Amino acid sequence: PVQIYANDSEASFDIAKRIATIIKQKQAEGRQAVLGLATGVSPIKVYKELIRLHKEEGLSFKNVVTFNLDEYYPIQPDAEQSYVRFMKEQLFDHVDIDMANVHIPDGTLPENEITAFCLDYEQKINSYGGIDVQILGIGRTGHIGFNEPGSAPNSGTRLVTLNDLTRRDASKDFGSKENVPTKAITMGIGTIFKAREIILMAWSEKKASIIKKAVEGNITSDVPATYLQTSQNATFYIDQGASVELT
Ligand code: F6R
Repeated sequence: PVQIYANDSEASFDIAKRIATIIKQKQAEGRQAVLGLATGVSPIKVYKELIRLHKEEGLSFKNVVTFNLDEYYPIQPDAEQSYVRFMKEQLFDHVDIDMANVHIPDGTLPENEITAFCLDYEQKINSYGGIDVQILGIGRTGHIGFNEPGSAPNSGTRLVTLNDLTRRDASKDFGSKENVPTKAITMGIGTIFKAREIILMAWSEKKASIIKKAVEGNITSDVPATYLQTSQNATFYIDQGASVELT
């Protein structure tokens, strides 16, 4: 399904409310809530609202476990562009989450340890009973996580090569395309699909043409987000701008 909002703020409030509901439900059951998180511009207002709910309405993250979708490779956690740093600045530093419950792919591993790390990441997700809700942005290549065109529907967490357009889009953060790492570690499409609920968000006309392909196009590995059409659990939350090319 697709839900179209007047603007990204209203959509982000709704997404934050949904996440808060899941956290509180699990709290009431004495269980942990497992969140799959994304970085980038798209989720920033969701995180802002979650912080507000924590500060003003007593929402606690004590029972929350998180798994981030991806991280550049290689990258140091304290680098300005690292997703570890992003998540701390945009969310974790402002709520009462136990940092031992936070999982983000490790951009500092030697290359020969990545395969084992990725298998372990999958197993950790499973050990918590799977992801309750996964949030996603969408890249202009149609990537979700860093699953670029060509990614298989059953792919798992792995080292991938970033698409040229993705690196160009990231050049605003790194100063130039040449400074953007060529690789990343990402959850796979198969990993994402195991989440019990999937929320993809896209804001503004910049995303309109890829949203049209993702929602209405043929299901193809050329546009990995089209796989979401086959999921009962996935909802596209988009604003007016991102919806303009939908028929
Ligand atoms: C980030 C991620 C990416 C972004 C996508 C959109 O963790 O997995 O798929 O969601 O590149 O980025 P923004 O939101 O910056 O347009």
